[in-house]
Amino acid sequence: MNILVIGSGGREHALVWKLKSGKGVEKIYCAPGNAGIAADAQCVPIQVNELEKLAAFAAEHAIDLTVVGPEAPLCAGVADVFRAKGLLVFGPGAAAARLEGSKDFAKSFMVKHGIPTARSFTATDAKAAVDYIAGEFASGAPGIVVKADGLAAGKGVLVAGSCKEAQEFAQGCFEGSFGAAGSKVVIEELLTGEEASLLALTDGKTIVPLASSQDHKRVFDNDEGPNTGGMGAYSPAPVVNAEVEKAIQKTILTPFLKGLQEDKLDFRGLIFIGLMIENNVPKVLEFNVRFGDPEVQPVMRRFVGDLPEVLSKVAAGDLASARIGWSPDAAVSVVMAAGGYPGKYAKGTPIYGLKEAAAAGTVVFHAGTTFDKEGRIVTAGGRVLGVSATGATIQEAIAAAYKGVDQIHFEGGFCRRDIGAKALKFLK
Ligand code: AMP
Ligand code: GLY
Repeated sequence: MNILVIGSGGREHALVWKLKSGKGVEKIYCAPGNAGIAADAQCVPIQVNELEKLAAFAAEHAIDLTVVGPEAPLCAGVADVFRAKGLLVFGPGAAAARLEGSKDFAKSFMVKHGIPTARSFTATDAKAAVDYIAGEFASGAPGIVVKADGLAAGKGVLVAGSCKEAQEFAQGCFEGSFGAAGSKVVIEELLTGEEASLLALTDGKTIVPLASSQDHKRVFDNDEGPNTGGMGAYSPAPVVNAEVEKAIQKTILTPFLKGLQEDKLDFRGLIFIGLMIENNVPKVLEFNVRFGDPEVQPVMRRFVGDLPEVLSKVAAGDLASARIGWSPDAAVSVVMAAGGYPGKYAKGTPIYGLKEAAAAGTVVFHAGTTFDKEGRIVTAGGRVLGVSATGATIQEAIAAAYKGVDQIHFEGGFCRRDIGAKALKFLK
């Protein structure tokens, strides 16, 4: 079996790492990949937005399964391009990818199908946004969340501190702060509680949740500083207890699947549901149509089964016959980022200690890394590495992950020191 993975981040490295242990796998390619993925797959210099080139590559190299990592090519229709050529691909087509590509579309879907979410209003011009905020939130914030409708690389959401701040952000969206992504603005009430990430496989007929996980979105310890793509994750997330699991199935997954069917959305891939949980009641913050990163890293560390077979079955519409299991161990992944992230940061900084981290028992997933002219591994992005470990308990997994982290250094590099700590309060 030959596999192509599209993307270049920690998510794609974790997927490649697990895929390569599948039965009958001959060759794994990754387009474009990174310096760490290069050790586990053959990297191909095609960018994620070169849809036709990717499909041509898959046809020429007898690729049996293509797995799409990031949202941008999914929203651009990469899965449709592959399917039109008769190629097996894991990922929704453009129509269903709008669940991530348009927050207004996602909200309409949730309201139509009775999926619990924050009350919201979609404004199509600045005046409507300003008036709605003034009317609905007259008593002031905290309470208002403002979101650019389209893909904005994680930067299009403001949890506003005041009506004025919310109105200014909305006006900025219409004035082009996020390009076309800001041509509509979703304004919603603030939800409180604990966030968790629910990843689920679906082929439109069956939906199977993966092990629960939790991200750490703020850049600094104790959830301080600006939001990032994610500074670390762990699995399982104890906030998703048996009662919450039951509620997720009944109030979210079942209506979600029925909604796909009623609306004739062809979804063969992974739905990542961002949850806010309060008093054991889960509500949906957002949908993403791809694996969460870094969440996928600890989740792949715990996955038991033949991943190429499972993802092929999803892509072929036969998820019902797939076998999926989980290690009872806990897993943690700590993100090491470049100084300045999520703002400006340097690139090209040499990374030391990768071998030592492996010797310490961690699996290091690469995100923003590349080779320099001398063949050294250097930084190439804001999130640079995800250092992952497993353990019989979450405490052991945390300790093991930081043992690896402490072997690695690059100038300006930093990480949060409290990844996984949120889980501990549930275990007392
Ligand atoms: P989204 O891209 O919609 O998930 O928003 C990014 C982040 O903003 C989420 O992970 C939450 O931390 C926060 N957020 C979004 N919507 C809400 C909401 N209605 N209430 C509270 N926090 C929110
Ligand atoms: N870690 C959050 C995301 O992948 O969007």
